[in-house]
Order: sequence, then structure tokens, then C-alpha cells
Amino acid sequence: MILKLLLGCLALFLGQTNARMTTEPDIIDLRFTEENGNCSVSVISPSKIRGELRLEGFDLESGETIDGGVTKSGSMVVPHDKAKAVRWTASFTDKKTGQSISKSFIPKYILTPAAPKSPRYNGPSVFGVRPGSPIILRLAFSGERPMSFSVEGLPEGAVIDAREGILGGKVSVPGDYNLTLVAENEFGTCRQPFTLRVGPKIALTPPMGWNSWNCWGLTVSQEKVISSASAILLKGLADYGYNYINIDDSWEADTRNADGSISANDKFPDMKGLGDWLHGHGLRMGIYSSPGDRTCGNYLGSLGHEKQDMETFNSWGVDYLKYDWCGYSREFDKNPDKSIASFVRPYLKMEEFLRAQPRDIFYSLCQYSTAEVWKWGHAVDANSWRTTSDIRDTWAFLYDIGFVQQAPLYPYSQPGHWNDPDMLVVGQLGWGAHLRDSRLTVDEQYTHISLWCLLAANLLIGCDVSRMDDFTVALLCNNEVLAIDQDPLGKQARPVIVDGDIQIWSRPLSDGGTAIGVFNLSEEVRKVDIGRYLEQLSLSGTVRDLWRQKDIAPGSYWIAPHGVRMLKIK
Ligand code: GLA
Repeated sequence: MILKLLLGCLALFLGQTNARMTTEPDIIDLRFTEENGNCSVSVISPSKIRGELRLEGFDLESGETIDGGVTKSGSMVVPHDKAKAVRWTASFTDKKTGQSISKSFIPKYILTPAAPKSPRYNGPSVFGVRPGSPIILRLAFSGERPMSFSVEGLPEGAVIDAREGILGGKVSVPGDYNLTLVAENEFGTCRQPFTLRVGPKIALTPPMGWNSWNCWGLTVSQEKVISSASAILLKGLADYGYNYINIDDSWEADTRNADGSISANDKFPDMKGLGDWLHGHGLRMGIYSSPGDRTCGNYLGSLGHEKQDMETFNSWGVDYLKYDWCGYSREFDKNPDKSIASFVRPYLKMEEFLRAQPRDIFYSLCQYSTAEVWKWGHAVDANSWRTTSDIRDTWAFLYDIGFVQQAPLYPYSQPGHWNDPDMLVVGQLGWGAHLRDSRLTVDEQYTHISLWCLLAANLLIGCDVSRMDDFTVALLCNNEVLAIDQDPLGKQARPVIVDGDIQIWSRPLSDGGTAIGVFNLSEEVRKVDIGRYLEQLSLSGTVRDLWRQKDIAPGSYWIAPHGVRMLKIK
């Protein structure tokens, strides 16, 4: 009876509906699942099937194989250690036919070493603010709280909140102020040289923060914004420099007020209150609009109300405007003039009102790269411009947007004016009410963050931060990797070697070093002779593995499919 029951259960298990067809024997698949840090593999088949499931690992650090065991039960736990990059291959052999299928999977592994308990500075070494504009800068120190903060050499008008570590106030006299940021807790003290540059330029390093679009799409609400902003503080992402909190499309009311001004819809009951709350935590507020009469999501745009809208945004405390072409197409089509000037016009118009505000507002152009925006974006004083259409969380998008489309654009990025290859697609995403894990593999996610940092790209987290797992936090909070994105020289990387599926991207750094990304774009694990490539590039010196935060010998290393080794040579 018990045997019958067991067989029944097995048949039930093996009778699950299949996700997709694979190789012989027909309609059997292997499925790896990873949830809450646990990984398992199962045989999926629509009919009763018997055989042997075997698991073997390949340690990507040592190149050793690991015996993961064998079972007849149709599913097994993958013995996964989060600190190790292991490629597990499951093979199933059908008892009746002797035929087998196999599939490989790399569970999430964490490379970023844990931060020390003592204070450590993780932010950029320079910050630009216009004379007289409010400074809102949460100093990016990790380490145990409570922590106390002070700043040496603070110019007149600037103030430091000693408990929260928020630099505030206003400085009216232009100049470079060389400060020392000091953070102290029971484990030690960190002193960080820092330049406060009071002058015409802002965004001296690429913006970092969060945007609502890739997770919530048109279902964003004030509550959801606060939830991600709170998590940015609680999970320590603000200690790494993520400080813009940007509301994307769908905050707008259906109609304008009698005086023509815009207001928020019911999902955002108190925009000014939200702005104040963010500023109180040293975070900045971002908003979205369109030069057209309608946005991409068919909400109200700013056409004909540019000045009024900018004034409203200023009154809410907006520090970042994403200005999305979309509905402007109708206006554009009315005019037979299709010269560059007509692409520039709506952005130039808004720039005038944006820069007239008594606060620093990051000006983000979103027009998906038309009319080679990188050639004129700086002329409308844009702080960044989208260089692509919308990103999605697949390798095809990552490859095309990241590697193909950005390769020729390196000459156009510079401090104050950045190429923007779109927002990050790691963590829980969904573009709507229902969120799910990013579909990028773990190594594609390492590649994504490495490449975006090499590209000096805007780093806007696109997921629900409140649901962010340890892996994603570690992925987004590696201070040595982020230092490449935030390098004050602001030079974007370019491909310097393309050797079949191996690409080497490189950028010079302000301290004389060179950042390198060694990417394996193939579907296979590859042993890559990094030393040979460095020689080819005439690069010598200490080789630092930035993800692992340790110096390595310039030898050969295994790189996962679609994976990366990110290095600094100094
Ligand atoms: C466009 C933009 C996206 C997002 C949506 C909002 O598609 O490219 O980033 O802002 O509009 O509707």
C-alpha cells in the first residue's frame, strides 16, 4: 500500500506539465529553481518516466569538479555555497532508452566582501553645486551606526548634520573647496579628502539612485516610492551613493488646474511632503514629464506649460527631471522642418526654465537616441541623455544596448554630461503590479553592473528595493566597482580588444590607473589568459580584481558564460 502511494506521488511529480521541449528523449526537461538562497533541480516530464539524475559542479575559481551526487527520485538539492561560483550540470538518463539530457546552471554567488564595521567612504571624491543652490548630499559612509560626522574646511554657508552625515546649506562664492570628510564610530575613524566644487556644473560624476519604472511601471504610488526609498536607507544602499529617488510616469492628474498648473493624482497625495521627507534623509527627488502634451503612458505632458511645470516641480523640491519625448511626436510631425534644430527645440525650451530654478536640477533627456543626441545633448545643458530605446532584462537587450550600441559613444561622455544606456535590470522587476526576479543569469548581472560602471553610466536601480535580496545588495554595493563609475575623470570605456567572443573594455582613471572589463560573451565557460591581453595592451602593474577586492596574478582565469572579470591595473 505504502509502495503504491509512493509510486503514485512519483508519478504525480513526474507528471508535471512541461515548460518546453528539449533534446531526446522527447519532452523531458531539467529545471533549476532558486528561492531564498536554496537551489534545487528537477526532472520535468508530462508522463511517467524513470531514470537517474546526476549532479556535477565545476568550481569557476579553482577549475575543480565537485561530485553533487546521484538520485532516482527525480529531484535533488544543489549543495550550494553562496560564497562560491559553481556551475552545476545536472544530467538525467532515461532508464528505458538509455538516452540522456543535461543542463547547467550557476546559482547566485556573492563576490563583494562584507564591509568593515569601521567607517569607510564609498562615494565620489568630488561634488558639484551651483553658487547659492541648496546642497543635498548624504555622505556615503558604510559602517556600524551610530556614527558621527564632521567636515574640515567647510566653506561659509555649508552645514553638516553631525548625526545623519548630511551635507547641507548653500555656498555663494564659487571655487574648489578642499574638505576632509570625517566619520567616526566605536570601531574607528575614516578621513576622506573631498572637493566641493561650487561652480556652473553639476553631476560631476554619474547620478546614482532609484527609478520606479522597471519595477512598478504605471502602478507606482507615493507609498511604493517611500517603500523603496526607505529600503535604500535601511539596507545601506545610500551608504554607497544611491541618492536620487525618481518617480517615473503616471504621477500626473488627469487634467490641469484652472490656472493651468499641474498637480499629482490620488496616488501621490503630497508631493511637497514627499520632497521634504526625501531631503530630510539626504536623498533627492526626481520627477518625469514630456515635452509633448501627453507622456508615453498617456498622462499629461508639459507642452505649452513648461515654465509653469518647472515652477511647480521646484516648489515640490524636485532635483531631477526625466524629460521624455513620447507625445511630442505629434507636435514634431506638424512641422516639416526635420533638421537637428527641431529635435533640439523642445529640450532647449525646458532647459531655460529648469536652469532658472533656485536649485540644482539634474536634466535627463529621454528620446531614445534620435538625431544622435550625444552630439548635442551638452548644448542643451543636459546632464545625461538616453542612448537607447527601453531596456529589458534579457541577454539580447543587455548585449545589444550595452556592448553594441555603447561602443562608439565613448567620446561624448564627460563630467556633467553622461551617456545613459537606461536603468538597471537586476532585482525584482515587472513594469507593473506584479514583480518577479530579473531574468538575467547571475553572471549576466555581474556583466551588467560591470559594464555600466565602465561606461560611466547613470546607475538607477530599477527594482523594488524593499524586496532586494542579499545577492542584489552585494551586487550593487561593491565600493571598488562603483568607484569606476564614479571616477572623477569621467572617461567612458571602449572596447580595446575583440577576440572572438572575448571582449576587453578599458577606461583610464583619474589616479593614473586603468579599469578593464574582460567579458566572455560566449555560451561556454572559458579559460581566459588575462596576462596575455594585458601584455597586448602594454598594461603592467598591480592587477586588482575589483569584485573580489584582491590583487591577483596576471594569469589565466575561468569566466562563466556571459560573465566578466573586472580589473584595475595600477
Ligand atoms: C518611455 C521611457 C521609459 C519610461 C516610460 C514611461 O518608454 O523610455 O523609461 O519612462 O516611457 O511611460
